[in-house]
Amino acid sequence: MAKDLVLKKLTKKFEKITAVRDMSLDVKEGEFVCFLGPSGCGKTTTLRMIAGFETPTSGTIYYDGEIINDIIPQKRNFGIVFQSYALFPHMTVQENVGFGLQMRKVPKQQIQKRVDELLSLVGLRDQKHKYPPELSGGQQQRVALVRSLATYPQILLLDEPLSALDAKIRVNLRAEIKKVQVELGITMIYVTHDQEEALSISDRVIVMNRGFIEQVDRPIKIYKNPGTKFVADFVGTSNFFEGVLQKNILTDRETNLQFVLYKGSKDSSGISGGKIVASIRPEKIILYGGRESEPPPKEKRNLKDGTIEVVTFLGVIVRLLVIMEKKRIIVDITESDFEQHMLRMGDRIQLYFPPEDFLVFPAGKE
Ligand SMILES: Nc1ncnc2c1ncn2[C@@H]1O[C@H](COP(=O)(O)OP(=O)(O)O)[C@@H](O)[C@H]1O
Ligand SMILES: [Mg+2]
Repeated sequence: MAKDLVLKKLTKKFEKITAVRDMSLDVKEGEFVCFLGPSGCGKTTTLRMIAGFETPTSGTIYYDGEIINDIIPQKRNFGIVFQSYALFPHMTVQENVGFGLQMRKVPKQQIQKRVDELLSLVGLRDQKHKYPPELSGGQQQRVALVRSLATYPQILLLDEPLSALDAKIRVNLRAEIKKVQVELGITMIYVTHDQEEALSISDRVIVMNRGFIEQVDRPIKIYKNPGTKFVADFVGTSNFFEGVLQKNILTDRETNLQFVLYKGSKDSSGISGGKIVASIRPEKIILYGGRESEPPPKEKRNLKDGTIEVVTFLGVIVRLLVIMEKKRIIVDITESDFEQHMLRMGDRIQLYFPPEDFLVFPAGKE
């Protein structure tokens, strides 16, 4: 039977604060899941309960079918990696990695074999006689990663392991962590507030907000079908329009602009009218040239005028901040489209909002 980790209605209260509320989740053996959410949403607290450093106020944690609420951290045999590398500075790299095995009185030869194997996995075997302060931050975190794997943990828990590193190193190292996870087939639970990191490495993302789970899904689903307004806002970038939906026409309260909405990728059948929030991703909005050869858009009412306020180059895409009736709209276009239209700040442009690309959420709720 697969060794799954199951959280059932887990709640953690600290005096007046409820850090985690009624959280239920099933993590499959060998799965890579991320807890993603803003600072203070309860990610670390959840991880600490799984590790055994915090006792749940209520709810149950199962591992491999057994309740583990009262089992001490050492007996759970879950590895942990924190943001700070916490290596022993006076021990060499290989002594650091072998430390846990040494404590368990594993024979020296076996330790050496395991240490070499792990250091090879992250390309640091030739650095094994060095001391941590002689290594770069990225190398130190690689050592911390394999050190936590030395004793064959059942699950590896990582709490923002890359936050202290530079952007480029973070991107490399996250790919390396993923590689190690796939190679060893180990269950990993990874905490981050960085949505790009979460989307790029996980099998499933658990989006958290104020102690609650907002959505659990595969990365692509989280991005394309955000289940709540919070997720649409926190993961990726969205433009929001809030107002009253009559028939299929939304009147934005802020600007009085009207948009025709079709039932998009998200099932909005439950929302037939009344107050709603509609969102649209910047890359879904189309720059309309209005040249003679260009066919008119399917839904003329969704063609709007705006003025370019800011232009930002982001590599293959160019992000435009467009003012429409005093509201700022974020629009992403390709670099080649940008070049072709020779756009400048202050230019008047026409934007098309495809009616099928809006997502619709109930108003009032985050
Ligand atoms: N030991 C503690 N005592 C009191 N409040 C705590 C403690 N640990 C965490 N909290 C509170 O619980 C909430 C969730 O914290 P945490 O799990 O650290 O969030 P995250 O890791 O998502 O940033 C926060 O409001 C935090 O201040
Ligand atoms: Mg935290």
